[in-house]
Amino acid sequence: MDLDFNRRLSIAPMLDCTDRHERYFLRLISKNILVYSEMVVSTGLIHCKDTNIFLEHEDCELPAVLQLGGSNPSELAEASKLVERAGFNEVNLNCGCPSDRVQNGNFGACLMKDKNLVADCFKAMQDAVSIPVSIKCRIGVDEFDSWEFFRDFIGTIADAGCRIFIIHARKAWLKGLSPKENREVPPLKYEFVHKLKAEMPQLNISLNGGIKTLDQVEEQLKDLDGVMVGREAYENPWFLRNADERIFHTNPPATISSRKALLEAYLPYVEKEFAKGTPATILTRHLYGLFTGLPGARKFRQTLSQGAPKTKDAAEMLRRAMDSIVEE
Ligand SMILES: Cc1cc2nc3c(=O)[nH]c(=O)nc-3n(C[C@H](O)[C@H](O)[C@H](O)COP(=O)(O)O)c2cc1C
Repeated sequence: MDLDFNRRLSIAPMLDCTDRHERYFLRLISKNILVYSEMVVSTGLIHCKDTNIFLEHEDCELPAVLQLGGSNPSELAEASKLVERAGFNEVNLNCGCPSDRVQNGNFGACLMKDKNLVADCFKAMQDAVSIPVSIKCRIGVDEFDSWEFFRDFIGTIADAGCRIFIIHARKAWLKGLSPKENREVPPLKYEFVHKLKAEMPQLNISLNGGIKTLDQVEEQLKDLDGVMVGREAYENPWFLRNADERIFHTNPPATISSRKALLEAYLPYVEKEFAKGTPATILTRHLYGLFTGLPGARKFRQTLSQGAPKTKDAAEMLRRAMDSIVEE
């Protein structure tokens, strides 16, 4: 099993955000970041007639991880095989989502209360595929928020053979907080993640939650293997522009020189996908935050939000939106 591709900076799985179009777009900014899919429910995937709906991607998106949600080991194993066959580099199990829908299906963050089931799920998945299987979790759930609980949870899954963990460094409250509040209200405790790495240095540990700058990423990487960024990457993707140089130390640095140049590079993809029937709203929804702070950013967003639902030429509409930005 190859653990070897670089996990120094990854983009978090985000439902309704990190679809294949967003991943293609982010790949234009950085050649090295590790991108994640949205969560795909294992039952849905294995019973779907057209698995392409969930698994389609372009080779240039790679390295990419597909995240599964589920708690049935044999279903997760079956789904992992489909993920591997589709060409993803890794499969991840969601043990961090607190939504009611996910709790009703008995997966996501509530799985943290059943470490042995998670270990069984991991084993079934890893036995089924030769790509790595990783776990994304919180530091605790409900009243189970002690260091000992967290260490024991990770230790049990590590004993089952798991080497890669991505940790959203706040606990989840399963009753009473919405998913959005569960990303904001429980305090971040980065110290849990650092203590874990210090106690279990053999594990590949990425920290997630509240990271907004490459300076913060660099700071965390002094002690940890990786950093995962969610909302900032979606809302302000341009913050990734120097990631290849600063985080991955690639030489020569990335070639996209400006946000407009980035959109120019994205346009042929928009043309191609729109011609295939992908709605313009889906192709442009992740662009809203690209020019934030620049003169014309509001007009850019307005042109997209008003133009995308009815346009007959998505690329032309995107060009028109770009014209609102006078200079960078
Ligand atoms: C809109 C949205 C959808 C999300 N969907 C998922 C998901 O499908 N799977 C998952 O593990 N986490 C999901 N998350 C949580 C993120 O992966 C991440 O853990 C969280 O946003 C904290 O990171 P951040 O502070 O960098 O945003 C989602 C977050 C947002 C904002």
